[in-house]
Amino acid sequence: MLLGLAASLAAALLLLPDRSKSDTIDTAQIERGRYIARLGDCRSCHTAQGGALLAGGLGIVTPFGIIYSANITPDVATGIGSWTKDDFWNAMHSGIRKDGAHLYPAMPYPWFTKMPRTDVDALKTYLDTIPPARYTPPENDLWLPLRARVSVAGWNLLFFDKGVFKTDPAKSAEWNRGAYIVEGPGHCGACHTPANLLGGPERDRLYEGQSIQNWWAPNLTGRSAYGVATWSKEDVVDYLKDGRNDHAVASGPMALAIQNSTQHMTDADRAAIAAYLKDPPVGTREEGDSPRVSEAGIDSMGGKAIFRDNCSACHGADGEGVPRLIADLRKSGVVNAPDPVGVLHAILAGAQGNVTHGAPQRPTMPPFAWKFDDRQIAAVAAYVRQNFGNHAPSVSDSEVADLRETLGLE
Ligand code: HEC
Ligand code: HEC
Ligand code: HEC
Repeated sequence: MLLGLAASLAAALLLLPDRSKSDTIDTAQIERGRYIARLGDCRSCHTAQGGALLAGGLGIVTPFGIIYSANITPDVATGIGSWTKDDFWNAMHSGIRKDGAHLYPAMPYPWFTKMPRTDVDALKTYLDTIPPARYTPPENDLWLPLRARVSVAGWNLLFFDKGVFKTDPAKSAEWNRGAYIVEGPGHCGACHTPANLLGGPERDRLYEGQSIQNWWAPNLTGRSAYGVATWSKEDVVDYLKDGRNDHAVASGPMALAIQNSTQHMTDADRAAIAAYLKDPPVGTREEGDSPRVSEAGIDSMGGKAIFRDNCSACHGADGEGVPRLIADLRKSGVVNAPDPVGVLHAILAGAQGNVTHGAPQRPTMPPFAWKFDDRQIAAVAAYVRQNFGNHAPSVSDSEVADLRETLGLE
């Protein structure tokens, strides 16, 4: 009997270290998954305004209609609680749901496919630990031919390059880490790479910028005379950490990406992203690629006076702004974009600077839609785009009218 007791005691003792070992592995795995969820910014798309964390229901507006994000909490009935790790891998790596149907590429699986299985498994382990929310997102509101999910198969054939990230042995470990984040979980190209008419990324124009959600996601390459091309690596790191640097203050969709994703990254990961974008600059600067200087009469439309009276108190007489508080309009990637949408959005609707741990006060630009008519807004936008060393095309009244209508402003 004594022997039996000793044996069970020994067994119990033997069990103990085993148990605590598996606990620590799980905790580490959960923390890893939580961090990967930050890298992939699941929250910005999968959490609706006022909705439960990751319960979906945010409407993603695409040129083809509205697609609502899915509930990815572990709720069994309405979330992904019944999904196995294989099911989850199929969604992240191949864009296929548990029921075998295609996901729409509004879910960035064309980027997430670069993530290795170990990272995707850790992510699922983490998602299994968040509070389950019983909630079914609204039905998608899509252009008729695209309602059948099988239509995505054709898109995938044309644009989806499935496969995990491959290290470039000629480059440093830091550079490769940056390339992995930017092209994989960070899905930076989903906004910064121009999409063609079918919504497919233009692979020969990686990170050259496009209009997204009625803002402008600027050119991140060296093939520009403006924006990131003129920034140092430290400027990029600062921007990703605090949403500010000496040149720019993030607003719009990037402010959200910074708030939910890049400000939570490690310093090493932000430095890796900067290394990938700047060492050497993404894309090569080509001879004769200098931006077109508009010949349109600078201030033929009276924008200068509007700027002096309404803008210069904040932005300075020469557009210089205030470092880390008010955007510098000189050499700005948004101001010099081929499309004036970012400039017009700020002027019409105003702009809220982002708030991060490192930059807690929110700089705000007031809206001017109520104050000026389309012609006046076009005039001040053109003035900003063609002075202070900026050389962007002029702005027409109809571009202002169109955006005013899209944004629902009077
Ligand atoms: C840019 C927006 C966006 C981001 C970022 C995003 N998703 Fe999604 N996701 C969507 C949309 C939209 C859908 C629904 C697509 C559809 O209906 O075909 C979706 C669907 C899914 C699904 C399928 C669920 C189901 O029941 O069909 C999974 C799993 C998923 N996302 C996981 C993730 C994870 C994990 C992350 C973060 C690493 C993430 N998503 C980041 C937009 C996004
Ligand atoms: C949801 C769309 C979206 C995603 C995803 C996104 N960006 Fe952006 N990004 C934007 C927009 C829009 C702006 C312009 C911000 C503004 O007007 O203040 C921007 C601005 C920037 C800028 C400043 C450029 C300049 O000239 O001022 C940098 C740098 C940047 N993004 C890097 C990244 C990186 C790196 C990633 C991936 C980790 C990323 N972005 C992901 C939309 C996005
Ligand atoms: C009260 C101060 C204030 C006034 C007045 C103001 N702005 Fe701004 N503006 C800001 C701040 C702060 C930002 C940066 C934060 C942001 O983008 O939300 C900004 C951003 C911008 C941007 C975007 C720049 C970029 O690189 O993303 C443009 C363009 C702009 N302002 C133009 C104007 C014009 C034109 C006027 C006058 C009609 C004006 N602003 C008046 C404070 C102001």
